[in-house]
Amino acid sequence: MSAKYQSIKGFADLFAAQSALFTRLEDSARACFALYGFAELRTPILEYTELFQRGIGSETDVVQKEMFSLLDRKGRSLSLRPEATAGVLRAAIERGLKEGEIQRLFSFGPMFRYERPQKGRQRQFHQINCECLGTESPFADAELITMLLDYLGGLGLNGLTLRINSLGCRACRPDYLAALRAYLASLAPERLCADCLRRREQNPLRVLDCKEENCREAIAHAPELANYLCEDCASHFAKVRQLLESVPENLAQIVLDSRLVRGLDYYCRTTFEVLGPISSASAASGLGAQSAIAGGGRYDGLLAQLGGADLPGLGFAIGMERLALLLQESPAPGLDFFIAAQDGAGENKARDLAFALARELRKQGFSGEMAYQQASFKSMFRQASRLGARYCLIIGSEELAGGLIGVKDMVSGGQIELARESLGAYLQKAKVGREEN
Ligand code: HAM
Repeated sequence: MSAKYQSIKGFADLFAAQSALFTRLEDSARACFALYGFAELRTPILEYTELFQRGIGSETDVVQKEMFSLLDRKGRSLSLRPEATAGVLRAAIERGLKEGEIQRLFSFGPMFRYERPQKGRQRQFHQINCECLGTESPFADAELITMLLDYLGGLGLNGLTLRINSLGCRACRPDYLAALRAYLASLAPERLCADCLRRREQNPLRVLDCKEENCREAIAHAPELANYLCEDCASHFAKVRQLLESVPENLAQIVLDSRLVRGLDYYCRTTFEVLGPISSASAASGLGAQSAIAGGGRYDGLLAQLGGADLPGLGFAIGMERLALLLQESPAPGLDFFIAAQDGAGENKARDLAFALARELRKQGFSGEMAYQQASFKSMFRQASRLGARYCLIIGSEELAGGLIGVKDMVSGGQIELARESLGAYLQKAKVGREEN
């Protein structure tokens, strides 16, 4: 029997498994972003439409075709937020941003875009969004991208692709735009779609972003932005790339892509996108290798455009539904340890020690569980393996008598004995070795 009321197309209910995954994504984000000095900000989902027109750009697809807008009872146009950046900046300006002060803000929540629903594309979707306001430093760009990759790595995502570009600044962009306009003007009108024919004069960068096959072919020989960067932009971009070279272990490749203009008007200098692993996991997720799980960049000038001080800023957003698609295909990261503790009848000594040891190891950053129930070692090893524990720590009568802890490698099956004080260092060494492989 079909339900009397159905959800709106492109608006999904998130039941237990998906909700639990989203909670895990948010919790990990809070923990990771706190290490970089970010604080949480929750902004309303409804804003004045003008904020998005002014912030995102009235020529963008997002504003022209994808906003859910309505009139309030006084006839004012309001829109459901299609992204978080404009609202976060509005809030920061309203609260007061001081020159010389850096604000780092993250937010989670639903966004709304009237797009054609498909796998990894909904009309209500969720973003994890980060903004860093008040700094021009290339170290901030590299740190922000590193934080994004650290976060994704912490979720077990490796083999990622970072596409990166520099869009230039107020000083050098006009020269590029002039060259691009001239190139677009030289194209026969039938080579561009109706939108791009209009954009080629008003907002030529948007033509580079058009998804129509015809337009993509037509711009194949368009001038390259990289050749027009001023000295400041070129050295800023070079520094960002140099800082990124040594950092992210979970990147398979960094692709310099001079066509990466992104779909929103506010970007300048560094822009980037992160694509999922080039592996069976992304193929199985149905997401397609070209679907970005995250995107962002610098937007110096946007704060001033929205009525604030002329301060620089940068940020990114991760699409949670897209991230969830990839994670469902990749194994959940297992525990670092499981403690199999066995007591004699009516005794607790082994489990008391396990309880204290588990706490000690967690304090050192290792994840693990202990066996609460009495069982045979065989069955506790099975439990450790079900939980994906890397090591099973064994405490039985022999270990209690000898003052040592048994350490069973759950991958190789090998077993050694170690003093309690050496366990942390041993687990750490093994963890680093694993991450390097
Ligand atoms: P965006 O590239 O439009 O950037 O969106 C960021 C991410 O949100 C995308 O990479 C994708 O994972 C996800 N996303 C976008 N649209 C949909 C959709 N219809 N369904 C599912 N997921 C979607 C921004 O929104 C910028 N505000 C990012 C930013 C922050 N730039 C600077 N600060």
